[in-house]
Amino acid sequence: MKCFELAVKEIRKRNIPGDVAEVGVFQGEFAQFVNAAFPDRTCYLCDTFEGFQPEEAAQEMQQGNATQAFVNAYQNTSEELVMEKMEHKDRIVLRKGYFPDTMQDIDTAFAFVSIDMDFEASIYEGLRYFYPRLSRGGYIFLHDYNSSLYGVEHAVDRYEKDHQILLPKVPLCDANGTLVIVK
Ligand SMILES: C[S@@+](CC[C@H](N)C(=O)[O-])C[C@H]1O[C@@H](n2cnc3c(N)ncnc32)[C@H](O)[C@@H]1O
Repeated sequence: MKCFELAVKEIRKRNIPGDVAEVGVFQGEFAQFVNAAFPDRTCYLCDTFEGFQPEEAAQEMQQGNATQAFVNAYQNTSEELVMEKMEHKDRIVLRKGYFPDTMQDIDTAFAFVSIDMDFEASIYEGLRYFYPRLSRGGYIFLHDYNSSLYGVEHAVDRYEKDHQILLPKVPLCDANGTLVIVK
């Protein structure tokens, strides 16, 4: 959390332009902090609000990265539950459904993005969508990079290889194994 607060401070101090977003919201635990920290910016919250994409979840389970119980646990949410937690509701734009399909009509830059979708294919799409749209001086917080959800790190490796890019990375020593990506 402290790292997030310090990143917010830098974004504010340097007037980094752009909206903010979280992809992979579940019950809105982290999203509420993003919304609270940026009362003056549109906050996109993307999730199915019904759990993982079934084919992707099946593939990750087959690879031993997740159990059925883990997958089932993330079905327990709703848009209403998430909205109740938001301090600046007028700033929230909920995008329900499979990302990135749900964001194709958005033409904006981002100053802060949290990517927390757990599985490789979706994380890869998260990087493909958000990194080109990230403002200079902006941050992506990628959850679970150093964790037993091995697809997260694989997605970053694949993104770098496919795009011939070395992402500027700061791995955090937090409980989520978060990777901070800057621009
Ligand atoms: C670990 S949870 C997110 C936890 C959340 N950030 C928090 O603060 O508690 C992962 C979420 O990603 C969502 N998700 C995964 N892949 C997705 C995709 N392609 N499109 C939309 N939502 C997705 C799941 O529905 C699930 O709610």
